[in-house]
Amino acid sequence: MSARGGSWHRGVAGRRASAERVAWEERSASDADPGPEKVPLLELHDVSVDYGSGRKTFRAVEGIGLSLGIGRTLALVGESGSGKTTIGKAILGVERVAGGEIRFDGEDITHASPSRRRELTAEIQVVYQDPFSSLNPARTIGQTVGEMLRPHGRPAANVVRSRVAEALERVGLPASTADRYPGGLSGGQRQRVAIARALIVEPRLIVCDEPVSALDTSVQAQVLNLLRELQRDLGVSYVFISHDLAVVRHVAHDILVLRRGRVVEYGDATRIATRPAEDYTRALLAAAPIADPVRQRERRAARALLA
Ligand SMILES: Nc1ncnc2c1ncn2[C@@H]1O[C@H](COP(=O)(O)OP(=O)(O)O)[C@@H](O)[C@H]1O
Ligand SMILES: [Mg+2]
Repeated sequence: MSARGGSWHRGVAGRRASAERVAWEERSASDADPGPEKVPLLELHDVSVDYGSGRKTFRAVEGIGLSLGIGRTLALVGESGSGKTTIGKAILGVERVAGGEIRFDGEDITHASPSRRRELTAEIQVVYQDPFSSLNPARTIGQTVGEMLRPHGRPAANVVRSRVAEALERVGLPASTADRYPGGLSGGQRQRVAIARALIVEPRLIVCDEPVSALDTSVQAQVLNLLRELQRDLGVSYVFISHDLAVVRHVAHDILVLRRGRVVEYGDATRIATRPAEDYTRALLAAAPIADPVRQRERRAARALLA
C-alpha cells in the first residue's frame, strides 16, 4: 500500500474535496479568490534569494509575493535570467531563501530542516525542461520512477511495481515502459516519464520548470493537455515556469510576470494575456508566436521594447 494509505485514486483525489477540483474549462475570474477561510496551498511573502557570498552577493530575486490554491496553476513568466528557476528552487528548498517567507498548506517551510524537507518531497515535486539529461540512461524507467517511493515508507517490490505501472498509465504510457531505457524513448515519452516520476509520490504541488520548451510544438500540446487532465483528475497544483507567454496563457489560471528578479505584474491569466497593464508584459506577448499576420506586425513593433 501507499505510505499514505490507499490506492492512487483514494490517495490523491480522495484527499481533496471534489468542489476544490476546479475544471480548467469552468474556471473564471471569480474562482481566483479562494475565500477568506481557506488557506492557500502555497504562499510566498516578500521572498528574496541571493547567489554568491560575502561582498560578491548577487540578489537574483527580491520582493516575490504570490499565492496558489489547490488544483490551480500559477505561471511564472519572464525572459531568460529573470529569476523563474530561482523561485522554483526556493519553493523546492534547493536554494536558500535570504529573506521573506514560504508557506505550504499553512506551514512555514522557509527554513525547514533537512528531515522535514525529505518528507516534503512527497508533497512538492518537480518536472524539469530537459527529459534527456534528467533521466539516468543506465537505469530502466521502472527503476527511475520506482526509486521515488523509497524515501517514503520503503514499500515492497511488488507494490513498487504496481505503483510504477499505475503512474505510467496515468501519463498515457503502457506499463511495459517500465522495462525500457530512456535511450529508446522519444522526447515526449521521456517527458511523460518525468511527469510519472513526479506523480508517483502523489504530490499536491508540482513545480514544472519549462516542461515543454525542449519539445516539438505538436508534442508540446500533448504534454500540456496531459498536465491539464492530471490536474482535473487529481487536483494537483502547478507552479508552471515558462519564458513563453503563448504557452502559459493556455495552462495558467494566474500569471506572475518577472523582470530582473522583480514582479512586474501578477493576476488573472486571461486578463494579463489580453489586457496587460505593463509595457514589459506587452513586449513579452509580442515576442510570443502568433498566427494572425496583422497582429504579428503590430507586435513586431512592440517587441522592440525587449531590446
Ligand atoms: N547558481 C547560480 N549562481 C549564481 N548566479 C545564478 C545561479 N543561478 C542563477 N543565477 C543568476 O540568477 C538570475 C536568475 O536566474 P534564473 O532563476 O535561472 O532565471 P530564469 O530561470 O528566469 O532564466 C540570473 O541572472 C542568473 O544568471
Ligand atoms: Mg530557468
